[in-house]
Amino acid sequence: MGSGDTSYPIREIPFGSMGGLYDQDDVRAALEVLQAAAGAGGSFFPLPEEVDFQNAFARHEGAAKAVAVNSCGTALDLCMMALGVGPGDEVITTPLTFVCTATCALARGAEVVLADVDPETLCLDPDQVRRCMTGRTRAVIPVHFAGLAADCGAFERLARETGVAVVYDAAHAVSTRWRGESIGGFGQASCYSFQSNKNMTTLGEGGAVTTDDEEFAESVRRMKTFGYVYGKETRVVSVGFNYRMTKVQAAVGISQLRKIDRVVARRLEVFREMHRQLEGVEEIIRPAGIGPDHGCHLYVCRLDTGRVPFGRDAFLSTLKQKYRVSCGIHYPPVWTWDVLARRGYGEAAAGCPVAALAGNQVFSLPLFPQTTNEDCAYLAWALKQSLLETT
Ligand SMILES: Cc1ncc(COP(=O)(O)O)c(C=O)c1O
Repeated sequence: MGSGDTSYPIREIPFGSMGGLYDQDDVRAALEVLQAAAGAGGSFFPLPEEVDFQNAFARHEGAAKAVAVNSCGTALDLCMMALGVGPGDEVITTPLTFVCTATCALARGAEVVLADVDPETLCLDPDQVRRCMTGRTRAVIPVHFAGLAADCGAFERLARETGVAVVYDAAHAVSTRWRGESIGGFGQASCYSFQSNKNMTTLGEGGAVTTDDEEFAESVRRMKTFGYVYGKETRVVSVGFNYRMTKVQAAVGISQLRKIDRVVARRLEVFREMHRQLEGVEEIIRPAGIGPDHGCHLYVCRLDTGRVPFGRDAFLSTLKQKYRVSCGIHYPPVWTWDVLARRGYGEAAAGCPVAALAGNQVFSLPLFPQTTNEDCAYLAWALKQSLLETT
């Protein structure tokens, strides 16, 4: 590793502050709906925008159906409920994820089982999942980590052979593909996020469930709307909730979908440039799978702690204090959150050595569609300088 002769003026590169990529089309879409709804005879009832958005999103993600909801967290909750997951059941997932991928099972009274990740992709390893399966396994939740598809082929086989439901956490994965194929129709269902910093966003919050199973889609739809079945009279046929997306969000979602391919293509350009800039920096392990199938949501590097005499946190502190670069951590393993730690999930670390190590090495660079090649060069320089200067 050498930092070269170039030196740069310090620039502030925050993580996540750029948020979603809104343009005037989104603003117009929101305003039009708002004005029509607020005018005489208008209403905020989510139709027809909700249905139009669902159809467009299902098409984009290659699924028969999409159900719009208010977040990916609620999408996962609804899938667990629609599957009837409950006490006595086990749900297998990855430790390298946001906490709600695990708590959606705990919330149903089921147990979470943590299986290790693949050392290259950091996605849930299907072989490790098989090792963890018991007669009580009800569902598996792989995460398309950072926008890189989990091994959908292996999980489809596992579902066929064992009858266990696979629900993908696709929070990072709008536009992700697995071997060229859109991922929204794989497994029992996929759960997407449109929260602020995701590939597309619906005014800060939002989510969707996609599935090829029309009955499953109907269960999810019913439960997200109080258990309503519409007919001559509205009936309530099951327990339900209000997890709906608003009319204005759905209109913005339609507008965001019109440009998502362009946005993700731009993300790929930025990721490729960063990849190029970090070539040969042996202390930093670059993310796997950067290419046209990658959703390019997060650029997650690992500090190769075997090669340096300091830890990730000290390194990130230098990067922030001296070079004003903020990184994200995706993710501290879920067993570090109190809610799992106090249930004894810390013990799972011994069975998940890859995730345990990666949890101390990962850091996500502040890359967005707006990032320039100069930003990438600055980031690479700041990273190399921090490698030299951290003690
Ligand atoms: C992997 C993963 N799953 C689920 C979620 C939850 O998404 P939401 O904020 O839309 O509920 C997140 C949020 O960042 C996430 O990263």
